[in-house]
Amino acid sequence: MRLTTAALLLLCENLIFASGTTADLETSELSTKDKQLTCPLKVCTDVLKELGAAEQQIKALEIRLANSEAQIAEIKKENQDKPKVAFSASLGSNGFVGPLNEDQTLVYKNVFINVGDAYNQDTGIFAAPVRGVYYFSFFYHCATDHPTQLVLYRNGKPEAFTQHNQSSDSPENGGNGLTLLLEKGDQVYIVLLKGRWVWDSPSNLSVFSVFLINAM
Ligand SMILES: *[C@@H]1O[C@H](CO)[C@@H](O)[C@H](O)[C@H]1NC(C)=O
Ligand SMILES: *[C@@H]1O[C@H](CO)[C@@H](O)[C@H](O)[C@H]1NC(C)=O
Repeated sequence: MRLTTAALLLLCENLIFASGTTADLETSELSTKDKQLTCPLKVCTDVLKELGAAEQQIKALEIRLANSEAQIAEIKKENQDKPKVAFSASLGSNGFVGPLNEDQTLVYKNVFINVGDAYNQDTGIFAAPVRGVYYFSFFYHCATDHPTQLVLYRNGKPEAFTQHNQSSDSPENGGNGLTLLLEKGDQVYIVLLKGRWVWDSPSNLSVFSVFLINAM
């Protein structure tokens, strides 16, 4: 841009110089030449003005670009710092759990992932590491000689059930999924109710999963 401006300035100087040399010419010719020369000179100053304006625009764009780059860097950092929570495990019982004499928190033993370490493999309890919106799902497969009833609990309070009743039918599949806003430290776990049973095989048929959608 600066080079173009310099080139145009040179061009303008040459035009002024050309105008000077016309002094040797006949007066009549000179007047017409002068008329011809004033026009390119005006064009020249107009172009310079436009160039100046363009340079201003580029400066403004450079500032906006620098701001955008700073914002992108900030967003990248925010993304890096964002808590990442994802857990998934199958019951890993390789057979029936239950029927039980009392309600029991299920410990899903066969852990696929536990990003953020929010799931406790010894207790079966998922504890929210941050306040946020979380998605939960819990599926099962089981025979029907006894009923199956799984309940998703939050802090001692039932939130959602999945179940089938006792029947002479072939095994059942069931499941449920829900989204909850959890406070930091809230505990979520799956409870198998008294008198019920559930089943899992090496095929991982009964799986409990959680992931954080967004910290709030
Ligand atoms: C399942 O059994 C319960 C009682 O244990 C009963 O209230 C419920 O209606 C039954 N559900 C179905 C779908 O039959
Ligand atoms: C069940 O999960 C375990 C552990 O992740 C894996 O090794 C196994 O292959 C899975 N079984 C099937 C049938 O996918």
